Amino acid sequence: MTAIALVPAAGSGSRMASATPKQYLDLLGQPLIAHTLRALLGAAGIAQVVVVISPADEWWASYDWAALLGESLARLLVLRVGGVSRAESVMNGLTALAAAPIESPQADQQAQDFATSDDIWVLVHDAARPCITSQQVDAMIVQLEYDAVGGILAVPVADTLKVAVNHSAEPRIAHTTPRAGLWQAQTPQMFRRGPLLAALQDALPEHVAEITDEASALERLGHSPKLIMGSPWNLKVTYPQDLEMAKLLLQANR
Ligand code: C5P
Repeated sequence: MTAIALVPAAGSGSRMASATPKQYLDLLGQPLIAHTLRALLGAAGIAQVVVVISPADEWWASYDWAALLGESLARLLVLRVGGVSRAESVMNGLTALAAAPIESPQADQQAQDFATSDDIWVLVHDAARPCITSQQVDAMIVQLEYDAVGGILAVPVADTLKVAVNHSAEPRIAHTTPRAGLWQAQTPQMFRRGPLLAALQDALPEHVAEITDEASALERLGHSPKLIMGSPWNLKVTYPQDLEMAKLLLQANR
C-alpha cells in the first residue's frame, strides 16, 4: 500500500517567540521542515509529499530545495493554500488535491496515477515534528493497510495528570485525572482521503476549537481510529527548548 503525505506547514509559530515560523527555524544548518520532508520522502510507502504553506509565505522560496532534498524533490508538491487553523490548512490541501490531483511537472507517472485513484490514503504529518523516521512511517503504513478507518501514532501518558482551578491566574489543583487509558496524540495520522475530507468539512468552521488533529474530526462522526505506539522522540517543536531537544535527538540518531 502507498500513501500521499500531507504536511501542514502554514502556522506562524506564535509560541516560539520568533519572527520566523518554526518550520523554517535553523536545525543543524537546515530549515527544520527539511528534516521532516526528508524522512517522509525516504519512506518506501510514500508516493508523493504535499506541503501546505501559507499564501503569504515569504520563506519557502528562499531555500535551495534541490540541494536540501536531492532527487526526491521530484515527488514534492507545494500548495499555497494554508488556512487560519491547522485543520483548515489540512482541509484546503485535501480540497486542492481533489480538484487538481498532482500538477507538479516533476511528479513521476507512478505518483500521478496514484493521485487520481479513488482510494488514496493520506498520511498527515506536522512540519514541526522533524524527528520522525522513514522506518516509523513505513511501519505505520503496514499496520493500517487493512484497517477500515485509519489511525494515529500516540504514546501512553506517563505522568500523573492534574486538573487546575484558576487555570490562568493562580493555578491550584482541583483533582487528579486517572491516566489509565490516556494516550498523547502525535502525527503521522493516516486516513483515506474521502472520509477525512468529509469529516473536516463537516466540522469546520463551527467546531474548529475541538479539531486539533485529524482523528478528532473522524471521532466526531463516530469513528474509532487505531492507536499505534509512537515514540517519545517524535516531539513537536512548539517552544524554544523543543528546538534544542530536536537537535540532540537528530544528532544522536546519526
Ligand atoms: O501550531 P501547531 O504546533 O499546532 O502546528 C502544528 C503544525 O500545523 C505545524 O507544522 C504548523 O505549521 C501547521 N499549521 C498549519 N496551519 C495553521 C496552523 C498550523 O499548517 N493555520
